Amino acid sequence: MTAAVAISLNVNGERVEADVLPRLNLADFLREHLKLTGTHVGCEHGVCGACTVRVDGDIVRACLMLAAQTHNSSVETIEGLSDSGEIADLQAAFRDRNALQCGFCTPGMLIAAQDLLKQSAEPDREQIRAHLSGNYCRCTGYQAIVDAVEATARARIGRTS
Ligand code: FES
Ligand code: FES
Repeated sequence: MTAAVAISLNVNGERVEADVLPRLNLADFLREHLKLTGTHVGCEHGVCGACTVRVDGDIVRACLMLAAQTHNSSVETIEGLSDSGEIADLQAAFRDRNALQCGFCTPGMLIAAQDLLKQSAEPDREQIRAHLSGNYCRCTGYQAIVDAVEATARARIGRTS
């Protein structure tokens, strides 16, 4: 029998201690152990981006990272970004521009979009598309998502058009 690994990490600002099996991935740890079900699981092999979270400030595919690898790390999920208000304007823009339909891709899409906006204050549409190209959406056709990210970028730098 495989022995569990003791991990200690910070999740959305709170200290978490857990014993996890070495093969448990971060997405399943967040969803099943911590009940943070905003992290979605689609493809489970690093393609769709639905499981995107932040680890030590960088976005990662939670389905491709082991929970054991997050020992001593800081993990932020969509619940954390949402509760802190960090992406409130981006979420509002998604709602206003119909940039979500079923919502399955939306947590990952928001985290990836926020990652871009932290790196680039006013990305053009091509840059937005490129940065979100690892996040699949089966509903929207992407145009509205790009509109929402572009509108948020403009609002953040004080431009209205
Ligand atoms: S579930 Fe992780 S990339 Fe699709
Ligand atoms: S809104 Fe349904 S997958 Fe994107």
